[in-house]
Amino acid sequence: MKAYWLDTKATMANTELTDEGVFYRAVPTTPEAYQPVLDQLKSSHGYITQDIVELTSDMPNLDQICAKFDPEHLHTEDEVRFVLGGAGIFDIRSRDDRMFRVEVETGDLIVVPKNRNHRFELTSAKHIRCVRLFQDMSGWVPHYRE
Ligand SMILES: [Fe+2]
Repeated sequence: MKAYWLDTKATMANTELTDEGVFYRAVPTTPEAYQPVLDQLKSSHGYITQDIVELTSDMPNLDQICAKFDPEHLHTEDEVRFVLGGAGIFDIRSRDDRMFRVEVETGDLIVVPKNRNHRFELTSAKHIRCVRLFQDMSGWVPHYRE
């Protein structure tokens, strides 16, 4: 994981992410190691469903899918992602309306808080495989920023 402010390029410490309401933790990617961590998160935050999503460069509709995550948007529930493979880039709006970037890769667990504007894109490798947790399946509906 690498986190930094987009305007100053200053690196963000994990405590700064916490201050911004973003949860981050590095977790081993074997199911025996990560499932207890996810189970704990589920019980403490009320996440009830879990699935795995994968985006790969050979998907014919990849651009269409990515176009949904790319514009700035928010959700009415947390966006929980645990990266099992590949990489991705979250740009998240701070409480004071700046933007910071969190680059995630294998073993990164991130929670973007509900009602917080953000955008997501793949890296040039065009691949990510991650576990998602939801409080409600309707929660992943994006609400785009005007
Ligand atoms: Fe999102």
